[in-house]
Amino acid sequence: ALSSADGPVLVTATAGTTDAGLIDPLEPLADLCRHHGADLHVDAAYGGLLRLSPHHRHKLTGLSRAQSITLDLHKLGWQPVAAGLLAVPDTRLLAPLGHQADYLNATDDTEAGLPDLLGRSLRTTRRPDILKIAVTLRSLGRDGLADLIDRTCAAAHHLAELLEAHPGFELHAHPTISTVLFRPTPMDDEQLAGLRRTLLLDGTAVLGRATADGRLWLKATLLNPHTTAGDLDTLVTLLEGSTHR
Ligand SMILES: Cc1ncc(COP(=O)(O)O)c(C=O)c1O
Repeated sequence: ALSSADGPVLVTATAGTTDAGLIDPLEPLADLCRHHGADLHVDAAYGGLLRLSPHHRHKLTGLSRAQSITLDLHKLGWQPVAAGLLAVPDTRLLAPLGHQADYLNATDDTEAGLPDLLGRSLRTTRRPDILKIAVTLRSLGRDGLADLIDRTCAAAHHLAELLEAHPGFELHAHPTISTVLFRPTPMDDEQLAGLRRTLLLDGTAVLGRATADGRLWLKATLLNPHTTAGDLDTLVTLLEGSTHR
């Protein structure tokens, strides 16, 4: 498809899919894009912050070759919404966002060095969302955030191991980030969807749902770094009680 495309081409990859937390093979995609003269954008809303962790950053090899990256720090950055960021390797790439309006950024003011934020976002009026992000980065630093990320991913791995070892559950796959897809056995999709609603309405557990390999799965997206092994045992016990009466 890339070789037959006319005009500029943008390939969009995902580093952390919403349903399963999967990461596209970024390095081979960057190679393909270079070969065909296409630009690469990576939606790293969920997985981008793995870059801070020495244990997990290898999963994002090739990310730095993208022409643009979006990150969402309301996930592995623990920010209240809104916390989306657009990152580019060279600020000249932001030129298409530029606007000029005398009442906002008179040319002579900009030339005199006053900050001109109109070229940094499609929005003009906005809240100072960057402030909370800056405070978090300043106070926790890269290592502090990496520690939270490592603990969150470890909790997800632990949950996956508990479910895999349990005869009453089927694990879809070991998590790439912190999303665990699983299903009680035996159970069809309709029963599973009903179970999820019951757990939610009873106040037992808030689990997502996702379709993978043509079947419906329960989805636990772990994002609390303070989750303990005991919490996960409790979750599995609650699920056991709801599904295998
Ligand atoms: C992979 C992915 N991309 C983008 C988004 C959307 O981000 P936002 O809601 O901040 O636009 C999400 C979910 O928040 C996501 O999981």
